[in-house]
Amino acid sequence: MSPYALTRTLAEDATGAALRADVLHGLSSTPKTLPPKWFYDARGSDLFDEITTLPEYYPTRAEREILLARAPEIAAATGARTLVELGSGSSDKTRHLLDSFTQLTHYVPVDVSESALRGAAKLLLAEHPSLAVHALVADFTRTLALPATPGPRLVAFLGGTIGNLLPEERAAFLDSVRALLTPGDFFLLGTDLVKDEATLVAAYDDAAGVTAAFDKNVLSVVNRELGADFDLDAFRHVAVWDAEREWIEMRLRSAVALAVKIPALDLAVTFAAGEELRTEVSAKFRREGVRSELGAAGLEPVQWWTDTEGRFALSLSTVPST
Ligand code: SAH
Ligand code: TRP
Repeated sequence: MSPYALTRTLAEDATGAALRADVLHGLSSTPKTLPPKWFYDARGSDLFDEITTLPEYYPTRAEREILLARAPEIAAATGARTLVELGSGSSDKTRHLLDSFTQLTHYVPVDVSESALRGAAKLLLAEHPSLAVHALVADFTRTLALPATPGPRLVAFLGGTIGNLLPEERAAFLDSVRALLTPGDFFLLGTDLVKDEATLVAAYDDAAGVTAAFDKNVLSVVNRELGADFDLDAFRHVAVWDAEREWIEMRLRSAVALAVKIPALDLAVTFAAGEELRTEVSAKFRREGVRSELGAAGLEPVQWWTDTEGRFALSLSTVPST
């Protein structure tokens, strides 16, 4: 068998239909919204990688610290032979796990970004030539058809990406993760933790403007794919901490009144001066909340680790054998 395979469960035309449906629904809603998975075309994936190196964006460094410190424990606790990673992106931090997982035979990165998957697989195969890599271009919020690979299986969801799902979406997502597991399998989850507002806002509104460019990239995707005429310069990136919901909200605020045409949808959308489009939330967590959300999905906590500054947490849970 070839050590590398790539499966697309998102057909190109289905992706187009999904984008059209999401944009139509989101831009007809009040307030206007767009779902976050559309950030990640090739340029969006590159911009995200740049975000992870910014001085203000601490989550990547904090999670990397935990992975480096705990990878041997995670390997020993799980005995995983297959690692499935949801929203794997560049798989950069995953390398720390792979280096310790001597018993691992299969790696299944799952992402909507085919360019990110291809880049990651190339690097990983060079470092781990005997690892079977089966990349899956798929939407992790939908039912996943995973390749048949040996257990025990560890499903990892890193980067705090779970915070980009709304609470109802999160519950459905955790139920679907639970459904991928059988007793003896594990789930490794990265969650960014609640902290002071200034640190959080800076992480999502950096001085160099990379996050702003990333946020606006979703408008470029709509322009390119649906023939829209969003003027990116008319929008300003805004990051707001919602203390009640404990999430950061990313918005694009139109400086002026605008009319935008979206030919592929036969739609014209107007923005009032100062009107905001919500592009993404990034929820921050507390230990008790994570425990109860995992518990609600039938996942039993095994371990909870944080970085030394207590900014980010990695938790390991399992499916109890009944
Ligand atoms: N795990 C990496 C990347 C996090 S960025 C890290 O920790 O740095 C979020 C990743 O999830 C991106 O690569 C994006 O393409 C992917 N993604 C976002 N929504 C997705 C969805 N619905 N289904 C699959 N992948 C998704
Ligand atoms: N999963 C990342 C996070 O919530 C995604 C992200 C980082 C992001 N910075 C962003 C999304 C800026 C939109 C805008 O931390």
